[in-house]
Amino acid sequence: NYPDFVELKEVGPRDGLQNETKWIPTEDKVAWIDMLSNSGVKEIEYSSFVNPKMIPALSDAREVGRRIQRNPEVFYSALVPNLKGLEYALETGIDGASVFMSVSETHNMRNINKTLDQTFPVLEKVISEAKQAGKRVTGYVSTVFDCPYEGRIDPEQVVRVCERLMEAGADELSLGDTIGTAVPSQVERLLESMIALYPKEKLIMHFHDTRGMAIANIMTSLQQGVTRFDTSIGGLGGCPYAPGAAGNVATNDVLYLLHGLGVNTGINEEKIRDASFFIQNKLGVKLPSKSLACHQHT
Ligand code: HMG
Ligand code: MG
Repeated sequence: NYPDFVELKEVGPRDGLQNETKWIPTEDKVAWIDMLSNSGVKEIEYSSFVNPKMIPALSDAREVGRRIQRNPEVFYSALVPNLKGLEYALETGIDGASVFMSVSETHNMRNINKTLDQTFPVLEKVISEAKQAGKRVTGYVSTVFDCPYEGRIDPEQVVRVCERLMEAGADELSLGDTIGTAVPSQVERLLESMIALYPKEKLIMHFHDTRGMAIANIMTSLQQGVTRFDTSIGGLGGCPYAPGAAGNVATNDVLYLLHGLGVNTGINEEKIRDASFFIQNKLGVKLPSKSLACHQHT
């Protein structure tokens, strides 16, 4: 029994590009995001308002956000680490703010330069101001299964971080398999704890496909009733502060799965393919998506 509809958030322009060393000119990012805006996808995370020294690939977030053509049918969100980032994001235009932190102390420190205890007050302020500005807030929680520095993560620790973000006013949670190590039994176990606490509609699964487990993990999540996933076009991406992390599960592969199962997404596979080839040509490297590879231009 599969759901009638599954909602995919396209994170390619953020999680996908953040790890690329090759600079993609702003006008190409804009043209690419405009293609995505016309693919039927309901939500696009278009960039990150973070320290540009840490993520140089997205240092043009403000210009990108100003220049993209906003489709009224699409919800545009961006990554926001602190009040400064929120201020830039609000000026530029967002429908939703995505705050983020890690369950693991070491990854959190490498990624955002704070302990968990130092992070909560910062994010609490960001969440409250974003809510006052009428924005939806997504709380990304990273390393929910395994941390590249600390190893296996206890689901109870994930729950504690999620509870703090939800108490602070976050509307929903995106649970990140940051380095793509999880197998379905881990997903089942974590989702059991999460579903006991929150409605399934508030849970988004964010799988990286480092070991090819993402599709299996999505199947398991679907069986547990989760209907929202973050995906990246062509499988582009990774976290530069998580060694060994490959890209997110490819939008193309997830569409192949869902449409094959008879699940509706509203997304046009051909348009996603065109947008994949567009960014692949700009990057000059083959994207990892397997279903895209079946259509590679020779
Ligand atoms: P910090 O160094 O502790 O902050 O960084 P700071 O307040 O001391 O500022 C340092 C410098 O950054 C200053 O500039 C600030 O002005 C500037 P300087 O004086 O050196 O010239 N700065 C900013 N500039 C623009 N926009 C801002 C901003 N904030 C500070 N918002 C901070 C703390 C969080 C800012 C930093 O560590 C950072 O930007 N980290 C981002 C790292 C990142 O983007 N990682 C990837 C995304 S997370 C991910 O991929 C996981 C996810 O996909 C889920 C999953 O897969 O699990 C979401
Ligand atoms: Mg990620």
